Amino acid sequence: MNEIAFLLNGNPVSVRADAPTRTLLDWLRETRGLTGTKEGCNEGDCGACTVMVTDADGTRALNACILFLPQLHGRAVRTVEGLTGPQGEMHPAQAAMVDHHGSQCGFCTPGFVMSLATAQANGATDHDDLLAGNLCRCTGYAPILRAAEAIAGTPAPAWIGDEVADLAAGPAPFAPASAAELASWYQAHPDATLIAGATDVGLWVTKQLRDLPEVAFLHACSDLKRIESTADGLRIGAGVTIAALRKAVRESHPSFAELLRRFASEQVRGAATIGGNIANGSPIGDAPPALIAMGARLTLRRGEARREIPLEDFFLDYGRQDRAPGEFVEAVTIPATAPALACYKLSKRFDQDISAVCGCFNLHVSGSTIDSARIAFGGMAGIPKRAATVEAALTGQPWTLATIEAALPAFAADFAPLTDMRASAGYRLETAANMLLRHFHERQGQPVSVLEVAP
Ligand SMILES: Cc1cc2nc3c(=O)[nH]c(=O)nc-3n(C[C@H](O)[C@H](O)[C@H](O)COP(=O)(O)OP(=O)(O)OC[C@H]3O[C@@H](n4cnc5c(N)ncnc54)[C@H](O)[C@@H]3O)c2cc1C
Ligand code: FES
Ligand code: FES
Repeated sequence: MNEIAFLLNGNPVSVRADAPTRTLLDWLRETRGLTGTKEGCNEGDCGACTVMVTDADGTRALNACILFLPQLHGRAVRTVEGLTGPQGEMHPAQAAMVDHHGSQCGFCTPGFVMSLATAQANGATDHDDLLAGNLCRCTGYAPILRAAEAIAGTPAPAWIGDEVADLAAGPAPFAPASAAELASWYQAHPDATLIAGATDVGLWVTKQLRDLPEVAFLHACSDLKRIESTADGLRIGAGVTIAALRKAVRESHPSFAELLRRFASEQVRGAATIGGNIANGSPIGDAPPALIAMGARLTLRRGEARREIPLEDFFLDYGRQDRAPGEFVEAVTIPATAPALACYKLSKRFDQDISAVCGCFNLHVSGSTIDSARIAFGGMAGIPKRAATVEAALTGQPWTLATIEAALPAFAADFAPLTDMRASAGYRLETAANMLLRHFHERQGQPVSVLEVAP
């Protein structure tokens, strides 16, 4: 039996790879007695279980409750117990939390401290974003933000520097090392469950208590983690994380990058992949509407055979995608830039919330005429879907408020949304139409961002 080998708080550990869906959180608490890492929600939402994970790509804060042990092979994990220095001195993040009264009951505190320590190690200071995945029920965020600001820009202590290069890890258990290896294995095991970031699959295990008899992890396929410039645009490997994608498209696709800032939390973005966000077929995934509005093309692979389809054709019906047994998502290709793309996400909370409605608009206007229109929505149907009737009502028309207003009733022809806990059908239809109106006003130079509203 292969062993899963990683560094835990600076010391090499090795775990028998006989239970691939055992979570890091359970293992830390149940077998190592490392109970500083807390279980709050056990579904990636609260950050109480945040740990620091380092590999060749850098250091990230991740949620231990939805990280499976094989995902750690060859990496370094630091828990709150591993933050103090060799003489027992507090980490600056811990000291700052004490100095600024950042803790009351203390349940959330180890998670906050791990997020702060990771931010410090990365020189990251955008604390509103970085801490959006850590929930505190009693202290309130102001003292915690003061603690964050107190250590912003200071160097991480010397003892926090995990060296993973020398970790003689050997082949990763349950994890093919390349897309080709994955392709031949999956063709022979079409009933297996593929696990990329495990931010969906993790919940199948922790919340639905599902057994997954046969799995393959995708994180060791380094070729699936590439973003390449090709003649067709930007080819994004299925294993690229949302965090890496957000960074890569910040200049070229700013509105898409801003949408990805609103995708879950720092901890989830560091694990979740673009391939998982597409393959799960969710009607409320955030990336598909933006990708469809850009005209993205999906590369599917089965064995050595590849096919490329427009992304919108992948989503057939609720819970049904155009994917054959043994076939997986290899990459998605988008134009090199998308200057007209505008994405709007509506959710009950600004941070760390799934969309009620996500609308993405890619309208090309030349002179005063709308040349072409690609509009796609999440949350409006059983699948991410184009607003074909609205697009037709806009294309070839003058770029005026009258055109926009005349097109608004077409939303009811394109969509018959559901009422659920996130929003009613009527609210969804109205807000989707309002997004088009908002987009028009925005392009006329009128400020529409809720973040820019003056008091
Ligand atoms: C707290 C929390 C907040 C979230 N917030 C958001 C949000 O704001 N917006 C949003 O869109 N989503 C959100 N999600 C959902 C989730 O993070 C995304 O859907 C994510 O992109 C899934 O990617 P993954 O790599 O983790 O997929 P996994 O969980 O590993 O897999 C998901 C599914 O895709 C399959 N799969 C994965 N990769 C491939 C592949 N290459 N080929 C074929 N099948 C594959 C798996 O078998 C599985 O069926 C949230 C999740 C959590 C836990
Ligand atoms: S326990 Fe809540 S995110 Fe892990
Ligand atoms: S201090 Fe009690 S939950 Fe944050």
